Amino acid sequence: MVKDLSIQLFGLTLRNPVIAASGTFGFGTGFDFDVNAIGGIALKGTTAEARPGNPCPRVADCTAGMLNSVGLENPGIEVLVREKVPALREIYSGVVIANIGGFSAEEYAFCCTRADESEGIDIIELNISCPNVHAGGAVLGSDAVATAGVVRAARKTVRRKPLVVKLSPNVTDIAAIGRICEKEGADGLTVANTFLGMRIDLKTGKPVLANTFGGFSGPAIFPLALRAVWQVSHACGIPVIGCGGVSSGKDVMEMMMAGASAVQVGAASIRNPRACITIINELACMKK
Ligand SMILES: Cc1cc2nc3c(=O)[nH]c(=O)nc-3n(C[C@H](O)[C@H](O)[C@H](O)COP(=O)(O)O)c2cc1C
Repeated sequence: MVKDLSIQLFGLTLRNPVIAASGTFGFGTGFDFDVNAIGGIALKGTTAEARPGNPCPRVADCTAGMLNSVGLENPGIEVLVREKVPALREIYSGVVIANIGGFSAEEYAFCCTRADESEGIDIIELNISCPNVHAGGAVLGSDAVATAGVVRAARKTVRRKPLVVKLSPNVTDIAAIGRICEKEGADGLTVANTFLGMRIDLKTGKPVLANTFGGFSGPAIFPLALRAVWQVSHACGIPVIGCGGVSSGKDVMEMMMAGASAVQVGAASIRNPRACITIINELACMKK
């Protein structure tokens, strides 16, 4: 008998609590396996206009993780809603999450309006935590007043879909930022994005990443993300989607025990695009 791993989130049914994290699963198409087994897919972060992203090198391997400074390379919101989402909907019937980036409250609001109108999108995730752009992103997400302004502007435009805010872990008190998002009307919180890091090339003495700093993710951050999930879920009354360093079914269970309602898998999919499937199979073997 196939085990039922389904969960309810914002009134939506997910086949299982595993969601492919934004930026690590493209727009969900082009894989050589059936992605329908995955509970949800968070699409690459999208801004109002297309962006080329940061110069290379923009990824660096690290012990038990990776650094990236992709810098929100994306085709822009119109291409997302007109091409990427319809293409994914041809092959995928699970929950689709649009990840919205931006550089001002107005830009977030504009992208949210377009995403809210798109039939193929189920949840809107506001990325106020990208560490790889010089304005917007984590600059907004680490400032209480700016966070409130962005969430308020987005909330006004998102009328049909659940609005989830993806928090930055690079703050002193992540629970306080979570509470601000809740007060401004967020339906849920994703906890969390990457941790700011860097590497230096021993031969040149220069930073490995062209952008100097990047976001650190992968198994090394699991205990840090788990702590953040615990703190936010104990401080806030809205669902928390755990994210950070998850690479096994056991990690998913642990994050749910810390308070997560669902769990995103990021860097593990870059190492192995089938990671979500493996993790779901592990969960099925574990769940009583
Ligand atoms: C290459 C890469 C690109 C990413 N792009 C985005 C993005 O566009 N939007 C976003 O919210 N998070 C982005 N992230 C962050 C992931 O969604 C996730 O929050 C983070 O990597 C922590 O999870 P992990 O340790 O499982 O990778 C990106 C991560 C990586 C590795």
